[in-house]
Amino acid sequence: MNEASRIEAGAQDMPRPMVIPVEAYISADYARAECDRLWRKCWLQAGRVEDLPEIGSYLTYDIVDDSVLIVRVRPGEEPGAIKAYRNVCTHRGRRLVDTPKGMRNARGRQMNFVCGFHAWTFELDGSASYIAAKEDWGPALCDAVTRLGEVKLDTWGGFLWINLDPEAEPLRAYLEPAATMLDPFRLQDMRPRWRKWTVFDCNWKVALEAFNETYHVPGTHPEFMAFGDFTGWGRQQGKHSHIGYDAPKGLEENKAKLRLGAGDPRISTAEMQKYTWEGVNTNTTQTLVDVAQSLPAVLAEDTPADEVLRYWLDTARALDERRGVVWPKVDSGHVAASGTAWQIFPNQQIGHAVNNMLCYHARPFGHDPDKCYFEVAVYELYPEGAAPETEWEYANPEQFPHVLRQDFSNMAAVQQGMKTGGYAGNIPNPKGEGAVISLHRNLARYMGTGEPRELG
Ligand code: FES
Ligand SMILES: [Fe+2]
Repeated sequence: MNEASRIEAGAQDMPRPMVIPVEAYISADYARAECDRLWRKCWLQAGRVEDLPEIGSYLTYDIVDDSVLIVRVRPGEEPGAIKAYRNVCTHRGRRLVDTPKGMRNARGRQMNFVCGFHAWTFELDGSASYIAAKEDWGPALCDAVTRLGEVKLDTWGGFLWINLDPEAEPLRAYLEPAATMLDPFRLQDMRPRWRKWTVFDCNWKVALEAFNETYHVPGTHPEFMAFGDFTGWGRQQGKHSHIGYDAPKGLEENKAKLRLGAGDPRISTAEMQKYTWEGVNTNTTQTLVDVAQSLPAVLAEDTPADEVLRYWLDTARALDERRGVVWPKVDSGHVAASGTAWQIFPNQQIGHAVNNMLCYHARPFGHDPDKCYFEVAVYELYPEGAAPETEWEYANPEQFPHVLRQDFSNMAAVQQGMKTGGYAGNIPNPKGEGAVISLHRNLARYMGTGEPRELG
């Protein structure tokens, strides 16, 4: 039994129905406690490695009261080539690098950082190289006092991960089993096609939980029902969880991964791909969409669904290869076991595939339990050197593609609804919304409160 099937087999049991108390979503005290107990303890996805191409390239990552400055110090990928520092001047505590107004984060390139208050200057290695009137302090002002505080940083999947806890376990151990399951998809080779951020009037968990289940598809995206069945599962995997679709009959090879439409699979695949591309611009690529459009003309009318699927994917793979885009070959059993997306505890979701990925990321908006930052990033494989230059763009929720706007329309309404007097707590579908239960089980371990309890 390989690693993948072990993971799947170990997680098959139908979980028991649970109730999740609303405290984690609406309590101001809980939100304040998250700062120390959660955000300062967990590995957090803070950006992409390709955003730091040269020595001196930097970006910042803000999480509640903390800000981290991430800097490329040396070329290459070995540990220490990229460093992370507390983004605060050691003199009198001014934020060292400001986030420009209206931007998600600071990003740029410079060979040292000059504090805007008294001009103390810090080198890429964190040491202070200029301190006005340094002699006034005498020998007490040594390097250990003045250098920037270092923050743990590691990379995986092409992402930069930081941890504010000096005692934190290594990143790889933290990410398992998600890292082993996702490694074959070579997420580090993908580059963003677009990335947008916004602000919601809801808790960060409400935002993420709108995407970690497919149980909402009939209610929120009814037009998708014309394309097939979106029944799915969500399973806890240690600190993390993953979701997938139930296997359609005859498509076991790709079960839990791809949807072929109902009815004539040539036509429904063509229509669903077109709709997905135009309606949300995620989870697929131009090549897949183009090949799907050709299916009704190229394949005979009674071609079985599994053959349609195989032809579609094989043709798209071959076409991409010709333009220098090589999809990794992933064992079909592993594809099936991996599902459609992983929720990396606490606040990152990776919707993986061999040639694209869709990532959601949510962060609290200060200490306000009713507000959060929400980010969507769509990646794909590009020929060497042909990836577009993208930057995080702010967008109002109304400016997102319309399928996402359907999801967004629930956010503030859920946040408000849960405050209703006498509301007894969330009762997620134990199979289809298992990732919601997983999140709160794990949150309770960090927070010391909010443990889901059995229903009934
Ligand atoms: S606070 Fe930074 S130089 Fe004084
Ligand atoms: Fe949705």
